[in-house]
Amino acid sequence: MTAPGRETLLAALALAVHAPSVHNTQPWRWRFGRRSVHLYADPLRWLPATDPAERDLLMSCGAALHHARVALAALGWAGTVHRLPNPAYPDHLAAIELHPREPSLEVLAMATAIPHRRSDRRRYASWPVPQARYREYSGLAAAEGVVLHVVSQGRDRTRVVEAIAKADQLQRSNPQAAEELARWSGRGRWAEDGVPAASVSEAASYGDLRLRPYAGTPDTPGPSDGAGELLVLGTASDDRVAALKAGEAASAVLLAATTDGLASCPLTQPLEVGSTRARMTDVLGGDLVPHMIIRIGWPTLAGHPLPKTPRRPADEVLDPQPA
Ligand SMILES: Cc1cc2nc3c(=O)[nH]c(=O)nc-3n(C[C@H](O)[C@H](O)[C@H](O)COP(=O)(O)O)c2cc1C
Repeated sequence: MTAPGRETLLAALALAVHAPSVHNTQPWRWRFGRRSVHLYADPLRWLPATDPAERDLLMSCGAALHHARVALAALGWAGTVHRLPNPAYPDHLAAIELHPREPSLEVLAMATAIPHRRSDRRRYASWPVPQARYREYSGLAAAEGVVLHVVSQGRDRTRVVEAIAKADQLQRSNPQAAEELARWSGRGRWAEDGVPAASVSEAASYGDLRLRPYAGTPDTPGPSDGAGELLVLGTASDDRVAALKAGEAASAVLLAATTDGLASCPLTQPLEVGSTRARMTDVLGGDLVPHMIIRIGWPTLAGHPLPKTPRRPADEVLDPQPA
């Protein structure tokens, strides 16, 4: 059977590293096999105070795994994914076994969206997102084994925004979490990782929604509207594979939203703190494990394209030895 050339694998990896990650830590390493691509967690890039259970790290790697699958598929190599293929080595998160296949138009559109997606922390316009979009995004999440819950206005919404505000208050008073946030954000143009100063929000909140206070975020509230709509991703089980799949589903939804011209941003503060995590479990009805909130909405007409956030290049995250 034919195998992909090294140039093809490097091109796919160059797209995969555009994946979103918590505080832009990019906590991944990669290896190439002859007909396979392997993803490893990079524990040196874990945020112990912000993300004690490693869920954000696993979701970030899940997003990169989905980006890699899309990129490889667009280059003519469909993948069968084996998650946590080696129980003795839990940092080996996935092996993607490759088979030649013509790319579909859907996969090409998703791959095209990869370099254009941004975590948009600005005010959103007030036009509603059509329900048909949510049906499509639910289908994409379901294909990854993840439930997408659209947060309705009223009690549901109040519970989610209150959980975000409470988690923010608790994290601000946790010196280790505050130190991690300060260390990983407000960075200048030379940095290869972290959240750049140019990408933080222009206000502490929009409407009812408090935003993560990266270094450089003003302390003053923004306009009383423009928070956008909220989606929550949940899974039936609570283990490393579930967190990985939640990241894959997040990537699918964020890329589809980008293709649709929507602005979006992952939000995870209330999932990082025990007490607010319990509140988020209630929002999902008690039976599902919450992983991530996705803020979504139309960009305002005044919105200019957001600057690209930095990434470590593919050759820096690729281990030279074969898998
Ligand atoms: C697991 C995870 C958690 C995140 N949590 C937040 C968050 O709470 N607030 C926020 O504004 N961005 C959050 N982000 C977005 C990252 O900060 C963003 O992906 C990273 O800075 C790279 O920027 P980009 O998405 O524009 O490429 C999160 C992303 C991931 C994958």
